[in-house]
Amino acid sequence: MRLEDRIVMITGAARALGRSHSLLFAREGADLLLVDSCGADGPYPLAERKQLEETAQACRGLGSRVVTAVADVRDSGQVEAAVAAGMREFERIDVLVNNAGLLAPGGVLSHELSEDDWTRVLDVNLTGTWRCCRAVLPHMVERRSGAIVNTASTGGRVAFEMFSNYVASKHAVVGLTKALALEYGRYGIRVNSVSPSTVAADPALGTGSTADVARRMGASLEDYERGSSSYHALGRLVSAQEVSAACLWLASPESGGATGTDLLVDGGFTAR
Ligand SMILES: NC(=O)c1ccc[n+]([C@@H]2O[C@H](COP(=O)([O-])OP(=O)(O)OC[C@H]3O[C@@H](n4cnc5c(N)ncnc54)[C@H](O)[C@@H]3O)[C@@H](O)[C@H]2O)c1
Repeated sequence: MRLEDRIVMITGAARALGRSHSLLFAREGADLLLVDSCGADGPYPLAERKQLEETAQACRGLGSRVVTAVADVRDSGQVEAAVAAGMREFERIDVLVNNAGLLAPGGVLSHELSEDDWTRVLDVNLTGTWRCCRAVLPHMVERRSGAIVNTASTGGRVAFEMFSNYVASKHAVVGLTKALALEYGRYGIRVNSVSPSTVAADPALGTGSTADVARRMGASLEDYERGSSSYHALGRLVSAQEVSAACLWLASPESGGATGTDLLVDGGFTAR
């Protein structure tokens, strides 16, 4: 039980990686504040309220106390309200996992991106991460303790053509992570990020963003995944559970010496 009695806030918790993180953290003894925008308009279908509640129920089944909050990380008021709901129930937040993110639109040259395409991805991936940190950090500073795990991507370490808004946002998440690590280390707060490569779709976790990328590339999800696998040293995509395990390590006392680091879980994608 590596997170026994810890209170963990996870954004984008309704499906895919967010659901996987929630389940693992529940198994490791954490109580959870699960946040998702639930159906807010997106460039592709985002998770629904029902999926957030399914994640919550599954975590309760594993013994966790769970509070759910519908909040769009683009809205400071909604983020503050979600954190307040968690504080009312749990009185502290020990760990923040910033997982909510958008990858859209894929396959578009930079000069073809609209102002909205650019702003939306930066607003969710980068500014949304900062908004959640801003809402939680005062409580962590007061207690002189905390761990934040941001979600970058291999796209935060190397570039992909035709995804410049995403690549820019994820490089910025790595930079934000380092800056926060420097600022808050003196308060006993560690800030790290995880950088997954393409995560294999898992129907039990709900279809995620990769399905939309495949669609935009004119490929089936299976063909897209098969093609992507060959770029990885392991010859396969990483699993959601492998990414969750990295987040768990960064969130737990076991990684006590790590701050300002970006942990790749990329099957060797960036090794070449
Ligand atoms: N899946 C991958 O291959 C992959 C690879 C590298 C990095 N990532 C990153 O991992 C994170 C999760 O990705 P995923 O594939 O699970 O995505 P996903 O689209 O399946 O899930 C994202 C979740 O975040 C929620 N969300 C989206 N916008 C939101 C907002 N504005 N406010 C609150 N919640 C919001 C969605 O409703 C959804 O539940 C993202 O940050 C993504 O960039 C994913």
